[in-house]
Amino acid sequence: MSPPPVYLNGDWCDTASAQVSVFDRGYLFGDGVYEVIPAFGGRLFGLEAHMERLSRSLREIGIAEPLARDEWQAIFDRLLEGYVGRDAAVYLQVTRGAPVPRDHAWPDPATAPGVMATVSPIGRRSEGARAITMPDQRWARCDIKTINLLPNTMARQKAVEQGVDEAILVRDGLVIEGSATNLFAVIGGRLVTAPTGPQMLAGVTRRLLIEMTRRKGLIEVDESFITVSALRGADEVFLTSSTKDIWPVLEIDGEPVGQGEGAGRPGPVTCRLDEHFQQLKTPQRRPA
Ligand code: PDD
Repeated sequence: MSPPPVYLNGDWCDTASAQVSVFDRGYLFGDGVYEVIPAFGGRLFGLEAHMERLSRSLREIGIAEPLARDEWQAIFDRLLEGYVGRDAAVYLQVTRGAPVPRDHAWPDPATAPGVMATVSPIGRRSEGARAITMPDQRWARCDIKTINLLPNTMARQKAVEQGVDEAILVRDGLVIEGSATNLFAVIGGRLVTAPTGPQMLAGVTRRLLIEMTRRKGLIEVDESFITVSALRGADEVFLTSSTKDIWPVLEIDGEPVGQGEGAGRPGPVTCRLDEHFQQLKTPQRRPA
């Protein structure tokens, strides 16, 4: 398959020739924001929520909207031309441009932003995840979807080095989210997930799943913090993200999730929510 096209600052290039300035503030300071928007069967999913979050991230770090909505749409359409009927993830990022010389202070607001977008295939989800818990070493504005992801990459790398899939980040004894996922647990017959706030990223998958669950009355949703000990005693745990949908967690810190016969396997609530969520992704299919 040919490498994906790259949109870069108004031009189209291929992966090998796409080049940014060494003065780009994304490269120098991680000074930018991004989105990952899934497309299922070639159709963008949760687009409005992703674009809303992009606008919010830009606003929070003081970068002006670089493109109008129809300009973004034209870029997405072109990126997805090679993905008709297939699953893909559109990646876009906006940085504060490439002013010279390097200076921590922000450049003149008229400085052209750095805008990049590309696409990649989304693979099949694995059957379940194994995870470790880790101290959350990130900053105090995790609600902004910034490209400055060093602590997230360090956490994920630690998980990989321990032979597992994801790091669950814990702050002051409370479960916040995964390194690139939000976390849900089934505890006492309720679906519990940390409330949104500066401590975590408000995931679009999280939001769509909560809205769907409430709309269909599938299970009571409780947006409140989960302690690590409550997580260890949870009946079911799963992670969510745009590229992983609902990803059951089978094992945490080497211990199976859940009790009894079903321990270490995707639980009934997780499976039911997943079934409904798959229908939300591809509305033409009705669940059995
Ligand atoms: N990550 N929390 C963090 C820290 C994330 O980076 C992500 C997404 C999520 C889930 O958000 P959403 O449901 O909107 O994808 C939660 C993306 C996929 C990434 O960085 O590749």
